[in-house]
Amino acid sequence: MNESEARPCARATARANFALVKYWGKRDAALNLPDVGSISITLDALWTETQLALDPSLERDRFELSGRHDARASARVSALLDRFRALSRRQVFARVTSANNFPTGAGLASSASGFAALVTAADRAFGLDLPPERRSELARLGSGSAARSIFGGFVEMHRGERVDGRDAIAEPLMDAARWPLQVVIAVSDRSQKAVGSTEGMVRTAETSPFYAGWVGNQPNDLEAARRAIQGRDFEALARVSEASALTMHGLAMSARPGLLYFNAATVECLHRVRQLRAAGHAVFFTVDAGPQVKAVCLPEASDAVAEALADVPGVRELVRSGLGAGADCGVFDRMDRPA
Ligand code: PMV
Repeated sequence: MNESEARPCARATARANFALVKYWGKRDAALNLPDVGSISITLDALWTETQLALDPSLERDRFELSGRHDARASARVSALLDRFRALSRRQVFARVTSANNFPTGAGLASSASGFAALVTAADRAFGLDLPPERRSELARLGSGSAARSIFGGFVEMHRGERVDGRDAIAEPLMDAARWPLQVVIAVSDRSQKAVGSTEGMVRTAETSPFYAGWVGNQPNDLEAARRAIQGRDFEALARVSEASALTMHGLAMSARPGLLYFNAATVECLHRVRQLRAAGHAVFFTVDAGPQVKAVCLPEASDAVAEALADVPGVRELVRSGLGAGADCGVFDRMDRPA
C-alpha cells in the first residue's frame, strides 16, 4: 500500500430514487434548476458507495468509477468538489472511488445515487457537516434527481423560484416505514441511453409545442401525489404516477427530433401492469429516460407482478427492491481498494 491510500477516508452510501411525478425540463441549465418540482421514492436495493480521501500530494482530483477512469464523469466530479474547496477554503484535491451495485446510465438512476453519495462523502471529508437541505442543493448541481437521493422514503423536490437555486432543494415527505411499497424493475436493455436526460430536456424545452402545458400542469400532479401519499391512497397514487410518466414521455416524443426511450418490451410491460391492476393487483408503472419499466406495488402484489413481468419477451432481468433510507456516511482510516 502506498502512503496516499493510508489517509482517512469518508465512505458514503446513497440509494437510487425514481420519480412518481416526473422532473423533465430545466429553468437554468448551468445551475441545474428544474422547471418543475417532482416527487420520488428512494430504493433500498440499488446504491452507490463512494470513498473520498483528501490528499495534499495530488495536483488534481482522481476519480474512478467501478475501478475505471472516466474523463467525462471526472470533470463533473471535480466541478462539484470545487464547491467544497470554496466552502471549506481548503485547496486540496481528492482521491475518489465509486461503485454502483447496478448498471450505470441505463435509466436506473445511477447519477442520482452517484452525486448524492459524492456530496455526502465530500461534506464529511472537508469537515463541513452541512445540513441535509444544503447537501441536497449541492447534489442538484451534479444531477437534478440527485437532490432527492439525500433523503429516504417519499421525497419532494421543489422547483424553487430563486435565481441562485438556494430553494431548488428536496425535502422528505414521508418515511419509508409508514408505507413500505415494493418495486419490481423490468430491465430490458442494460446499455447506456442514446440521448441523456440533460440533452433530452433541453431539446424538449426548445422544440416541443406542448412544453408550456407540461410546466403549467405540474402543480396539480404534485398536489394529487402529496395527498395520495399522505392518505396512503394507492389508487390515487397509481393514477397520478402513470399520468405523469406517460405525459413526460408524450412530451419527450413531441420534441423535434422526437425522443423515444421505449422499446417493445417497455410497451408490453406497461400493458401487463395495467392488466394486473384490472385483475385486482395493487400495482402501477413508471418509466424514466430509458426502457426499463418500474412497477410499484403493495407488498402482497409483488410476487404476481414479478412473475408477470419476467414472462414478457425482451425482459432480461428483474430487480426487486423496497424503499430505502437517505444517504449516510462513515469515516475509516484508509480507502478500500475498489471492488
Ligand atoms: O437528474 P437527471 O438529469 O438524471 O434527470 C432525471 C430525469 C428523469 O429520470 C427522467 C425523471 C426524474 O424525475 O427522475
